[in-house]
Amino acid sequence: MNDRFWRPISIDCINPEGFPDVALYLRGNDNYVLYKDEERKFTGDDRRRLQRNFTEFLYVRTGDLEEINRYLEDNLANLLARDDLNSLAKGRILYQTSVNYVIDVFESPEIAANMSRSRNLILHMMNYLTTDTNALESLQSIVGHNFYLYAHSVQVTALNLLLHEKLFNVAPDEMIDVGVGSILHDFGMIFITDKVLDKPDALSDVEYYKVKQHAQKGYEFLKRNGLKSEVALTVIRYHHERYDGNGYPTGIKGDDIPRSAQLTGICDVYSALITDRTYRKACSHADALKTMHEEAKAGAFNSDLFNRFAEIMTAQKAA
Ligand SMILES: [Fe+2]
Repeated sequence: MNDRFWRPISIDCINPEGFPDVALYLRGNDNYVLYKDEERKFTGDDRRRLQRNFTEFLYVRTGDLEEINRYLEDNLANLLARDDLNSLAKGRILYQTSVNYVIDVFESPEIAANMSRSRNLILHMMNYLTTDTNALESLQSIVGHNFYLYAHSVQVTALNLLLHEKLFNVAPDEMIDVGVGSILHDFGMIFITDKVLDKPDALSDVEYYKVKQHAQKGYEFLKRNGLKSEVALTVIRYHHERYDGNGYPTGIKGDDIPRSAQLTGICDVYSALITDRTYRKACSHADALKTMHEEAKAGAFNSDLFNRFAEIMTAQKAA
């Protein structure tokens, strides 16, 4: 079964009105089974039947994705405003649309320079995060079982937007730039081979050296190819710098590291810790903060900024 030709799509995204007429499939143990063909409409009954069977995702052929992405991006505002969808369903729609965007960007890098798509997405994500109190929790519950890099990009974006909103007085346009930088922060990973990225055990020094180049390479590529926002480029380039100067690519330290990049770095580490990786299991929220607290004490993060981050994340968890 070649998973490359199939993409999961949350059934919450499949709106009976207006969703493109594409074939939808169920995933079996070792194959994909047609659920409905192009001729038949997906109905409310279909959705209820699938929900009764605890089916969260159907699958589409990758060839149909372009049409689906266009539909989702054009209809995001309507989908997110619907009263009959709960926070989790809206989170799934937003997550799906964002992940589709990130996959597109990683597969066709020239798309990254098309700011109108990413701005549109970030605007919707910001709106969802600031108006729906369960938003972060909903997004997080979805992220767990998806391709790490795509899921991680979306999770860091959500965390970073929310934290920027709560901690700093950032102008709306700058917030969008923070979001765009966040969703593309690991874009430079396209220059690292899958063999290194998927390696289940520790990286050799040479492999680690290569992985570390993603921040600078992503920055250079996007700058050369039309990403104009200084804020977004800063987030991409400096998200692995550390407060004590032990980060990369440049080794700048303290508040020479732009504030947005410092906060992105904190969100990045937190997201990595609370997610399953090939080489270790996910940590709990409390364990992740404990680990990061030790790192902050050792000088990796601005401790004031980290403490405020920890406070907000803990309050989010308790909400
Ligand atoms: Fe990174």
